[in-house]
Amino acid sequence: MAESKLTGDVFYPPEEIIRHAHARDWGTMAAAAEKDLEGFWAKEANELHWFEHWEKVLDESKKPFYQWFVGGKTNIAYNCLDRHTATARRNKLALMWEGEKGEFRSFSYFALRREVCRFANILRSLGVQKGDRVTIYMGRIPELPIAMLACARIGAIHSVVYGGFTVEALAERIDDSQSKVLITCDGAYQRGKVVPLKQIADEALQRAATVESVLVVRRTGEPVNMEQGRDMWYHELMALPIAGNSCHIETMDAEDPLFLLYTSGTTGKPKAILHTHGGYMVGTYTTLKYVFDIHDADRYWCAADPGWITGHSYIVYGPLLNGATSFMYEGAPTYPYPNRWWSMIEKYGINILYTAPTAIRGLMRFGEAWPNRYDLSSLRLLGSVGEPINPEAWKWYHRVIGKGKCPIMDTWWQTETGMFMITPFPSVPLKPGSGTRPFPGVKMDIYNEEGKPVGIDEEGFLVITTPWPAMMRTIYKDPERYVNQYWSKYPGAYLTGDSAKRDVDGYFWVIGRVDDVLKVSGYRLGTAEIESALVSHPAVAEAAAIGLPHEVKGNAIHAYVILKTGIEKHDRLEEELRNHVAHEMGPIAKPETIQFVDSLPKTRSGKIMRRVLKARALGQEPKDLSTLEE
Ligand code: WT7
Repeated sequence: MAESKLTGDVFYPPEEIIRHAHARDWGTMAAAAEKDLEGFWAKEANELHWFEHWEKVLDESKKPFYQWFVGGKTNIAYNCLDRHTATARRNKLALMWEGEKGEFRSFSYFALRREVCRFANILRSLGVQKGDRVTIYMGRIPELPIAMLACARIGAIHSVVYGGFTVEALAERIDDSQSKVLITCDGAYQRGKVVPLKQIADEALQRAATVESVLVVRRTGEPVNMEQGRDMWYHELMALPIAGNSCHIETMDAEDPLFLLYTSGTTGKPKAILHTHGGYMVGTYTTLKYVFDIHDADRYWCAADPGWITGHSYIVYGPLLNGATSFMYEGAPTYPYPNRWWSMIEKYGINILYTAPTAIRGLMRFGEAWPNRYDLSSLRLLGSVGEPINPEAWKWYHRVIGKGKCPIMDTWWQTETGMFMITPFPSVPLKPGSGTRPFPGVKMDIYNEEGKPVGIDEEGFLVITTPWPAMMRTIYKDPERYVNQYWSKYPGAYLTGDSAKRDVDGYFWVIGRVDDVLKVSGYRLGTAEIESALVSHPAVAEAAAIGLPHEVKGNAIHAYVILKTGIEKHDRLEEELRNHVAHEMGPIAKPETIQFVDSLPKTRSGKIMRRVLKARALGQEPKDLSTLEE
């Protein structure tokens, strides 16, 4: 492509960034992957360690249940740790961590491997075996990645529940995964306050009966209830002689499950997305290496939470697979002041910062003086993920944080895709608001209702038309839903649930969700879950939730509620219902406003027409009312 003739607002990468990059020439790489997809991924996979080599890179015979590196034996935890401790990277920092109160902890690859081994031995001694599910519910502390890697080491399937979720969300996820072990902490610091995670977990465990052992990390020191015979302190277990420094590693089939991660869908309960040891490992390793151009001397910071896919792939697995130094920060970006992030970049010499548009917009509000007080010259690359980034925020990030010299990697992907799908490389020209093009080897398209590619600048359904190694394998326990949800609208194409456009240069512009999934501050929530939390309150008969544009959050939740007959609306009821949602699901799901109504617009078959509510709230005429009941 004649990159010099790109249209619109274009930012060209600085020469030294291109010279430094693992992939200087996107076009050659994309062409190679196009010509030989299996060869492209096999070459990357060969940079990692396999106990036994695979027989076939890609098996499409059971599609859409694609299989990758069939017959290969490996373990992702081996590749994250043991592969490096066998080399000079042994004493390199794997993980650096700063607590909200300013404490600092770090782990070399050697030390991290030791902690993981010790904890893996504890899990084994509690009877956790290959294939067992373990729920992890913690704040952003080093024990969270340690617990994930310990599970992977012994072949247990981890299911991390974001620490910002609360009682019902946690109970539902424990119950669906039938976890026997829960790993949590006494509490988590967030904006100077303590979130009582153990107390929330205790309440959730009354609703989910499968858990036999609860392992509790002491973080805050606040008093917690420890149930005899069930609850054990992590630090006490880790001091036992059985927590030896080495631990036999489980040999995993490439297709063996690595983790479940619950995410919100269009309807009903959250679904458990299943990822595997082999393909997920190759996908996250390769994408991080090329997109954030990981080199040995780098200090890389992904500011997401390990409880979401971004943290799984790009705080924990991707960086460690690449032998990088991954930095993790416990608390809020503005605690105690809006300089917190910038001061840590200066203090630790961070080279790569990967965050979400909502965080950028939030920090932008405080003005340039905060970042300008710090030396941010260590930064080389910036990243964005979670929702479309508005050009204004992009330009601020580029100019004020990146000083005009750091390309922004706007990465589009999903819990389901496991890895970056539409993403720039450091060497490609950027347009603010576009993630540029699909990763080499990934083919994507934009279809109209009939499954035909739309024209230039036309909006349509974003689909993926090639398999990729880190793709989800199924929805845990619900393969039918996997097929129906993702693979049935268009034959042979994976439906992302997003709408997008493509411009004359072939650059993709993702617009947003076209289903009942909301992105609130980059967090993915289902309207159905928020509604079900509302309906679980004794005063509520029916509820509908919608997202409306919000300057910082991207979308904010607004809810409509029909009260049960005989219930009188009173002044405190709106507040009570909002708090009820926060208690059941989590503060991130708390509606901004609740409006009490007598009826909701529905289809003749009784489905709530949220788009009608949304159009009315925005003062627009709702389109196509033919299915509306009255
Ligand atoms: C949805 C997936 C994958 C990491 C975090 C989110 C939206 C994600 C972008 C981006 C525009 C984006 C999409 C997608 N999204 N990244 N760079 N530009 N939209 O994972 O919670 O599974 O959400 O996030 O709508 O479908 P997730």
